[in-house]
Amino acid sequence: MIQRPRGTRDFGPEEMEIRRFFEDMMRQEAVLHGFREVSTPIFEHTELFTLKSGPGVVEEIYAFQDKGGREICLRPELTASVVRFFLNDLTTFPRPLKMFYFGQCFRYERPQAGRYREFFQFGSEIIGNPTPETDAEVIGLAAAIVERTGLRDYRIRIGHIGILRELLSRTGVEGDEALPILQKLDKKMYTEAEDLMTQAGIAPEVMTEIVETTKITGPISVLDSFEGPARDYIKEVCDILLAMGFSNVSVDLGVVRGLAYYTGMVFEVDAPKLGAEKQICGGGSYSLAELFGGEKVFSTGFAIGFDRTLLALQTEGAALPQERLTAFVVPVNDMMRGHAFKLVSELRRAGISADIDLMRRNVGKNLKFAAAVKAKYAIIVGEKELESASVTLRDLSSGEQSLVSMVDIVAKLK
Ligand code: HAM
Repeated sequence: MIQRPRGTRDFGPEEMEIRRFFEDMMRQEAVLHGFREVSTPIFEHTELFTLKSGPGVVEEIYAFQDKGGREICLRPELTASVVRFFLNDLTTFPRPLKMFYFGQCFRYERPQAGRYREFFQFGSEIIGNPTPETDAEVIGLAAAIVERTGLRDYRIRIGHIGILRELLSRTGVEGDEALPILQKLDKKMYTEAEDLMTQAGIAPEVMTEIVETTKITGPISVLDSFEGPARDYIKEVCDILLAMGFSNVSVDLGVVRGLAYYTGMVFEVDAPKLGAEKQICGGGSYSLAELFGGEKVFSTGFAIGFDRTLLALQTEGAALPQERLTAFVVPVNDMMRGHAFKLVSELRRAGISADIDLMRRNVGKNLKFAAAVKAKYAIIVGEKELESASVTLRDLSSGEQSLVSMVDIVAKLK
């Protein structure tokens, strides 16, 4: 038998109901915050991702040549795509542009619990306004979404990549040169980070200072010794979040982020119960537009790992929604089939979920099937009942039955 590719998943009906429920919930929350949905292609020119991250990133993504010899890849994330879309078509829109998206991403990773090769992100980007208000609005949306899912145990950690970049630039390591070091620090791979810093000629005591800085966590006051614009900026962001009612926010200068484009505030949301793959959301402020040939515009955004968020909810034993069919219509014989189809259509038009026998089963087997698919009611359409323009309504949990007039059935089920 052919199996699905490694790192991918199939989702059955029950799982899809849960997924759609949370997807819709996230959409609604974003709309409540004044964000509007966009959608971009699942494949892009590979260059969109190598421009900032370098050719090495090809090892981590699904990149290939199409039949026309173009270098194409499946998107590993949507931020670069949204910025490309902005530059292609949206630059005349009033700013700030507040956009959100939901879609699958592909990364060539070693699959494990919570880490897949195909996964889903719900994300947002605000383009065109470098202020603490913008950053707080973005974190605020991420926090509101996580809160609305009902997840109880999560932490929001805010950092500022500018602090580490500043420390590195004092040693002469600047711009993209700092990237490999920052990426090792992001993964807490200190030995590897130190090796790279040694190669870059950074003195051991400065190296220690940089590594120790990434270990600074706690309330905003831990930044007291870092006088400067970065500290003031984070403080302003945190004050706005507090005004919004989000108090489970802390400072963590170890939030470095693996992606190359961040320039200022960075943040992550963790669900500690998930263990190794506990990061359910990541984001920050960045500038990519000028790299793609546009004007320099600042943006801030985040992406929630949709799959990990659902895993976290499951781990907490959250009650997950399940849809149930309202009515299963059962004709007692062939003669009743037309009447049964008329009724099932009326129910559906009235917005009541309804299904009908397609297998020409007898009444007993149909009732068993209706119970097996967890329908709430069976509606039996029989000759005797029809004489009085009625049907038999059977509650499949209690087994109670009653004769209900056809004119009342919609109102009764509603
Ligand atoms: P990211 O941290 O690479 O950021 O991904 C965001 C989230 O996607 C992660 O926190 C994690 O929950 C989830 N995720 C990442 N990789 C996987 C995987 N292999 N399997 C399952 N879940 C995964 C970004 O993608 C940025 N574009 C976020 C952003 C938007 N920054 C600014 N704007």
